[in-house]
Amino acid sequence: MNKPVEFSLDDLRGAPDLEALKARIESKNLTPGWIPRKEPPLWHEPRSEYSTMHWKWSDAKAGMDGAARLIGTDLAERRNLIMSNPTGDNEISSTRTLISAYQTILPGEIARTHRHAPHAFRVILDSKGAWSCVDGDKHPMETGDIVLTPGGSWHGHGHDGTEQSYWFDGLDVPLVHLLEPMSAEDHPLVYEPIKRVTPDSPYRFTWEWQQGQLDAAKDDPEGFFGRRIAIDTSTMPTIGINVHRWKAGFQSRPQRSTAHQIFLVMQGSGTTLVDGEPIDWGFGDTFAIPIWKRIEHRAKDDAVVMGMTDEPLMRFCKYWKFEALN
Ligand SMILES: [Fe+2]
Repeated sequence: MNKPVEFSLDDLRGAPDLEALKARIESKNLTPGWIPRKEPPLWHEPRSEYSTMHWKWSDAKAGMDGAARLIGTDLAERRNLIMSNPTGDNEISSTRTLISAYQTILPGEIARTHRHAPHAFRVILDSKGAWSCVDGDKHPMETGDIVLTPGGSWHGHGHDGTEQSYWFDGLDVPLVHLLEPMSAEDHPLVYEPIKRVTPDSPYRFTWEWQQGQLDAAKDDPEGFFGRRIAIDTSTMPTIGINVHRWKAGFQSRPQRSTAHQIFLVMQGSGTTLVDGEPIDWGFGDTFAIPIWKRIEHRAKDDAVVMGMTDEPLMRFCKYWKFEALN
């Protein structure tokens, strides 16, 4: 076999033409920035390789009930169903930066304590008697609660009630994959010792607290978001969480932004138009919307919808753009 030609510094300096220079320079793992490419590195406006997605609660619940029959917490670190977006390059992405999943636990089960770099949170869809332990604080996870587990915090959960519990998980795992600082470990004692039992963990935002905040909030005067509150996610700054209350008949002004967004329906029903295509949603449904899509929300009846977004990350990077589309 012929050895590849080793080009000298003089070969590079003295290349007779651009074509020869390209061949010689590419042997050093350098590539000219002036040549045309199939995929140019810059383009005119935001775009996503990801599709808009809609996952129905009825499918997810039936799948979780099947999983609850077939696999236990002894074999599954977490008994969850990941909302996979088939157009992405990462099978556990729901959008480019965010992932969502549905999870269930049976009465009497305890899920082992672990911690990981990705930030995570839960929205409890149906639960009485389940609990979470985050950094030693054991607190209830009841229907409507939002519970944060910031990256690096030990967390596990269990169920002291009598009926199967279900919730939504949101994480920034695809972002961590992209940036590569992943780490994860199991607790050395398998289950983290409980330091205190309290209903008032700083990581727990109860349904009652959310409703009180919404009662006191004002409708967005510009008509983009209706009435909404933001959960304090300063401990996990890649993810924003908003809770919207849309009265029956509410219609948002059409808009687009550079945020990746995932919506979970906590109450009520309605339709969201994404680039004109309707998503008819109801309780427990999740829909993911890539960046720069035309979005219009319409509530059929009184609705509460959680919105998960990487807007804080986009703002930090100064990549944030938002436009009204009238
Ligand atoms: Fe976790």
